Amino acid sequence: MAQMKKPRHFLTLLDLTKDELKAVIDRAIELKALLREGKPHEHFNNRVLGMIFEKSSTRTRVSFEAGMAQMGGHALFLSPRDTQLGRGEPIEDSARVLSRMVDLVMIRTFAHETVERFAAYSNVPVINALTDAHHPCQLLADIQTYVEHRGSLSGKTVAWVGDGNNMCQSYIHAAEQCDFELRMACPDGFAPDANLLENFKHRVVVCSTPEEAVRDTDLVVTDTWASMGQEDEKQAREKAFAGYQVDHELMSFAKPDALFMHCLPAYRGKEVSNELLEDPESVVWDEAENRLHAQKALMEFLDKHSR
Ligand code: CP
Ligand code: NVA
Repeated sequence: MAQMKKPRHFLTLLDLTKDELKAVIDRAIELKALLREGKPHEHFNNRVLGMIFEKSSTRTRVSFEAGMAQMGGHALFLSPRDTQLGRGEPIEDSARVLSRMVDLVMIRTFAHETVERFAAYSNVPVINALTDAHHPCQLLADIQTYVEHRGSLSGKTVAWVGDGNNMCQSYIHAAEQCDFELRMACPDGFAPDANLLENFKHRVVVCSTPEEAVRDTDLVVTDTWASMGQEDEKQAREKAFAGYQVDHELMSFAKPDALFMHCLPAYRGKEVSNELLEDPESVVWDEAENRLHAQKALMEFLDKHSR
């Protein structure tokens, strides 16, 4: 294990400067091309990523694990069920032990505070792979996808329709970091954190209907109405979110070349119509693929800037 003096962590999008974020996205696009051309990019030879998953995952697990393998390294899947974390070993102790053995740590968990505590005691970079509050890795992929299809997000208008959840909150950070306006429509009682809205009110317009939010926007984004950990609220949420489905009719209010994104998994017939998800204006499959490239660029960046 390489000893690192001051690790760079990625707990929210604000952990990168605007220029650093742009560099990571540019590098992600480069790494994607290298992979397609079959050219080696083995930055992590003989090194190890620890992956702690306290919630389910398809894209995040596969993209980090495949990405690490493509860069010459190895990834360890650690679930609370099979580790001492699940039996109550303190986060702070786990952080000190794991970071003496692995070179980076990725965590998907519930409370955002858990990743902050882990990072405070880790001497290797820690990556937030989703908390109840933020999902910054997904935003890297979303930004890359927009850039690839339409160019820079700077000066653009993005609509968020649905729950003011972790994805929505990371979109608020993205609006700040990529200089776009975020128009959001969330049902009553499902708005994002009030402090976040206050801190970034220069970037966010709170709208009262999905149509108002989507009108003349360049990108429309939604997510599940019931996030992981909210399974018991599913039925009540379906009622509360009636009228918030993103479909072709709602997309017709956006600009003619507007894109649709969804971090997936998607619930067809709920937050998004099946027809829209399968339409060319929906770039969700590119968005999912870009998790791989964007996180490879992120891991390389954090590693290079932690020495
Ligand atoms: N979008 C996303 O994070 O997907 P997974 O839950 O499958 O990792
Ligand atoms: N908001 C969703 C995102 C899943 C990738 C959740 O937290 O479950």
